[in-house]
Amino acid sequence: MRRPYIAFAPLQGYTSAVYRKAHHECVGGVDEYYTPFVRIEHDEVRRKDLRDTDPERNAGVPTVPQVIARDGEEFARLCDALQEQGWHRIDLNMGCPFPMQVHAGRGSGLLQHPDCVAEIEKEMRRRPDVVFSVKMRLGQESIDEGLRCMPILNDMPLTHIILHPRLGRQQYKGTPDLESFIQLHELCRHPMVYNGDVAEIDTATGKFSISGYPNSPVNIPGLKGVMIGRGLLAKPWMPGGKDPHEVLQNMHYAILSHVTKNLCGESQMISHLHAFWEYVDIPRKQKKEIMKSTTLQRYNEAVASAFRFI
Ligand SMILES: Cc1cc2nc3c(=O)[nH]c(=O)nc-3n(C[C@H](O)[C@H](O)[C@H](O)COP(=O)(O)O)c2cc1C
Repeated sequence: MRRPYIAFAPLQGYTSAVYRKAHHECVGGVDEYYTPFVRIEHDEVRRKDLRDTDPERNAGVPTVPQVIARDGEEFARLCDALQEQGWHRIDLNMGCPFPMQVHAGRGSGLLQHPDCVAEIEKEMRRRPDVVFSVKMRLGQESIDEGLRCMPILNDMPLTHIILHPRLGRQQYKGTPDLESFIQLHELCRHPMVYNGDVAEIDTATGKFSISGYPNSPVNIPGLKGVMIGRGLLAKPWMPGGKDPHEVLQNMHYAILSHVTKNLCGESQMISHLHAFWEYVDIPRKQKKEIMKSTTLQRYNEAVASAFRFI
């Protein structure tokens, strides 16, 4: 059996270029790292987002920049900005459930506008040198929206579709709906990647377990692979078969070095470091000490103490 494709999900505020590079260098085992979405704000492509997709910052890391757009015009502007940076691989976000994006017709809100999805399909066809993928939910209010968009998605030139089987209106509540995943999988002509609450994966067979799901491990026939977000933030060592203590030490060192060199101000540095620990699966007491530290001295003491328990 072919090794499954494994992707690191984009998580705004967590999987920055520094984090992605640290993970790639200290762990490995991930085929592609998706960036948090690049957006248009105040009628401009957000500079902060373009700094994160700067090819120099992502050198050596298999990176997929992601865009969020409400129509063909926005999509074209975002693709232009990324192509100017030299990218030939772009992912489209059709799954973000945040109300501000949804109400503007972006993320899972885009699934309610098949006409805009069709405009984006045309824009993709104008860029034959770019490899596109789509990351989507079942719909915003109902799976009917995903079903209605599927023929247009089938016409898109895509390497795969990543499906998170929840509705946008659920945000992250409830368990992933595997039956609906399979329903869309059957209608989709592109390879499909599963995303949502993956807690463990057997990298040899592609079988994975979903947290809180009764029938784990899950094996969906014909799947290209999985995308993992919070499960990898919790256990970054998962795909590489390396020792957790060593992985956390090395990743933390890489992130701490970056923060020390590039950020000024203790509170800015600490909030960046806290983001590294927030989801990590370590004993509660030690994590609490790290998360409540407000000075670098306290932070370093709490981290040193935590490493005695990891
Ligand atoms: C804090 C946070 C930020 C996220 N940012 C993005 C994003 O920028 N783009 C995106 O497509 N999904 C984003 N997601 C969704 C994740 O990529 C993923 O689809 C979701 O967390 C489910 O997968 P998981 O259970 O493996 O984490 C975000 C999720 C969280 C919790």
